[in-house]
Amino acid sequence: MTRAGPLRRRTRRLEVRPLAPRDYARWRDAYAGALPKRNAWDGGPRGAAALTRARFRALLAERARRRAADGFYDLAVFRRDTGELVGTVSAMDVLRGLAQSAYLGYSILNRHWRRGYGKEAVRAMLDVAFRDLRLHRVEAGVEPGNRRSIALARSLGLRREGLKRRAVFLRGRWVDLLMYSATCEEFGIRWTGRVRPRRA
Ligand SMILES: CC(C)(COP(=O)(O)OP(=O)(O)OC[C@H]1O[C@@H](n2cnc3c(N)ncnc32)[C@H](O)[C@@H]1OP(=O)(O)O)[C@@H](O)C(=O)NCCC(=O)NCCS
Repeated sequence: MTRAGPLRRRTRRLEVRPLAPRDYARWRDAYAGALPKRNAWDGGPRGAAALTRARFRALLAERARRRAADGFYDLAVFRRDTGELVGTVSAMDVLRGLAQSAYLGYSILNRHWRRGYGKEAVRAMLDVAFRDLRLHRVEAGVEPGNRRSIALARSLGLRREGLKRRAVFLRGRWVDLLMYSATCEEFGIRWTGRVRPRRA
């Protein structure tokens, strides 16, 4: 059973919430209309075969399953003025037990970069992570060359903790990650979760 709260936020310009069946056309249009890939971490546009209604239904089912398992929370980011889908923020690989932590993920569609949407959406995701998911700590792992992501982590006030060597397998090789983190206290939120005692 999930422990999650509402998992939705309205910020000044954005709405952050799980994708819903009514979002199909917005999801398809956003990914079909992305500009050509701008760096190694940018997904770029997707072809029609990846954007069918059946694919969308499968994606919603997979995300609901992961939320129900309290393992992975992916939230869509919409502009409130136009309703466009502009990206995704996530709490990945939730660890309960003694850590009460997750990895933070974020991706903004490239035609919307550099307008502060990333910062606004990740702030909302941090609030969801600390309040709705009752996590104590989030960590973002960023490849050292991903200067946009490093700029975002710094501008959010995440703490740089060091280089995790050969941390994840990406694009066919093991890559190092610069680790950034935050705990709820650093965002003025008191931890209200519960650590279950370990069984012998
Ligand atoms: C990283 C990413 C989410 C940033 O999204 P964004 O909406 O463009 O970011 P914002 O506009 O909110 O900018 C956040 C901060 O980074 C700065 N920044 C953004 N792009 C920058 C760039 N190219 N150079 C320098 N600074 C940059 C902004 O000035 C802002 O700092 P400020 O608040 O001090 O002004 C986006 O580039 C992206 O989705 N990239 C591809 C996926 C990815 O790399 N995900 C992260 C994997 S770890």
